[in-house]
Amino acid sequence: MNCIRLVKHATGAPGLRLLGLGPRLLPCRGVLKLKYLFDQHAFWAQGRSHREIRKLLAKSTIVISLWRGKRMVGFGRATSDGIYRAVLWDIVVADDLQGMGLGSQVVEALLKAPALQRVEKIYLMTTNSADFYLQLGFQNCNSQNLLVINGANTK
Ligand SMILES: CC(C)(COP(=O)(O)OP(=O)(O)OC[C@H]1O[C@@H](n2cnc3c(N)ncnc32)[C@H](O)[C@@H]1OP(=O)(O)O)[C@@H](O)C(=O)NCCC(=O)NCCS
Repeated sequence: MNCIRLVKHATGAPGLRLLGLGPRLLPCRGVLKLKYLFDQHAFWAQGRSHREIRKLLAKSTIVISLWRGKRMVGFGRATSDGIYRAVLWDIVVADDLQGMGLGSQVVEALLKAPALQRVEKIYLMTTNSADFYLQLGFQNCNSQNLLVINGANTK
């Protein structure tokens, strides 16, 4: 789909986070658009405030967004120490544009980012999209358990 634009943000996405910049560095209320994308299409990320979204952007090593005009239609991010571990987070495509290869473009852009090229292992957690990641080269990890403890920001 050639009317979709993929944006590779700088670490911490300062343009998106502070000025709401979208494609071609045009201001387009990007944090609001990201909040809308999360609220509408990412069940685990609903209800995040603008402040929280700005904070998650600030702490992300790699941030990718997809735009159709001034509409944000996809997103993904990664955090990493740059050498041993990285984790992909918050990968989402608007549901009217799913199944067209856009989610794969987001994941491939994250995996190809320079900050991940020397990393030993790249993890992700998914509730119901494992098959999507398997066809992109991820493998089930049977040798490790996923453990969790709720932090202070639990809703
Ligand atoms: C998961 C998601 C990001 C995939 O994006 P997408 O643009 O629909 O994916 P693509 O079009 O690149 O799909 C590539 C392939 O994966 C398959 N696929 C996509 N989503 C899938 C899913 N949830 N489960 C299994 N397979 C899936 C597609 O059918 C396609 O297969 P094909 O090449 O044989 O046709 C998107 O469906 C989404 O945003 N879902 C809601 C949010 C979500 O659950 N995100 C994952 C968080 S871990």
